[in-house]
Amino acid sequence: MREGNSVLVTGGAGFLGSHLCERLLRERRDVVCVDNFFTGTRRNVEHLLGYRNFELLRHDVTFPLYVETDQIYNLACPASPVHYQHDPVQTTKTSVHGAINMLGLAKRLRARILQASTSEVYGDPEVHPQTESYWGRVNPIGIRSCYDEGKRCAETLFFDYWRQHRLEIKVVRIFNTYGPRMHPSDGRVVSNFIVQALKGHDITIYGDGQQTRSFCYVDDLIDALVRTMATAPEFTGPVNAGNPVEFTMLALAERVLKLVGGPSKLVFKPLPEDDPKQRQPDITLARQALGWAPKVTLEDGLKETVAYFRDLLRS
Ligand SMILES: NC(=O)c1ccc[n+]([C@@H]2O[C@H](COP(=O)([O-])OP(=O)(O)OC[C@H]3O[C@@H](n4cnc5c(N)ncnc54)[C@H](O)[C@@H]3O)[C@@H](O)[C@H]2O)c1
Repeated sequence: MREGNSVLVTGGAGFLGSHLCERLLRERRDVVCVDNFFTGTRRNVEHLLGYRNFELLRHDVTFPLYVETDQIYNLACPASPVHYQHDPVQTTKTSVHGAINMLGLAKRLRARILQASTSEVYGDPEVHPQTESYWGRVNPIGIRSCYDEGKRCAETLFFDYWRQHRLEIKVVRIFNTYGPRMHPSDGRVVSNFIVQALKGHDITIYGDGQQTRSFCYVDDLIDALVRTMATAPEFTGPVNAGNPVEFTMLALAERVLKLVGGPSKLVFKPLPEDDPKQRQPDITLARQALGWAPKVTLEDGLKETVAYFRDLLRS
């Protein structure tokens, strides 16, 4: 395998990708960021364009790419339901053809490659919390399947390239992550609450607000990706990365309100029918294999995220 300094990040102008590019540049890596700007924006990486060791390339990963690199982080794929359901066929193509193209590139270059997989591969799980050995319960024909099954197929491809072509692969199953540069209208609860509060609108809580969720702050998540890439060749994952600490939606809304201030009130609406049931990572493997656990508290993470959205709404 190649041991060099250059790294390719697909989906690098997105929420997670832009933070990953930043982190890699801080480590003095040569970074090529590839994105078709479907959900990502140039704005997310504008501050990086001045670095001599940063290159931004508009490219769709469903088409082959020929560049030289030592490592590949494959993040390209819309991540929120509103975006991945917008063009479901393209979503599946991005996951599956994107994986084939990036694995093909990795094979040609003998580069190490990491796949940004998802907790969605567990579907609507029967076990809590989910360990990596759980095979999941996914509907293959529903409106979320383009994403869930696309990501599952990408994992299959990664492991077949590993078995068949001895490629060095790493698969990380990412659980809900939040932070600056989340898309303001992607329908996620953290960005929804913050944007509603900043606009002085009422904060919408579905159900009684007692349902729980767990969210990982972006810096912690990026640290897990970088640590996974640095593991020994025999470590393939899949490895869960997320924050196991749960909090209720009511508690989240109250904290957001306290941080933002303003006139917003909490309003309660009926739970949508497809509201996903609770999902929570078991991160025992990440603790053991990566020496990793989330560090950033909800309070600190929310402060950074609120500051980001405040600026964004002003501009
Ligand atoms: N954010 C989370 O909570 C979360 C959870 C689980 C998994 N993930 C995975 O992490 C990765 C990044 O997620 P994110 O939250 O940063 O989402 P995002 O939508 O902000 O980033 C995805 C990026 O991929 C780009 N992209 C989409 N299709 C592409 C294509 N065909 N070719 C090139 N670029 C393309 C988008 O323009 C965007 O910049 C995704 O693969 C996602 O499935 C994220």
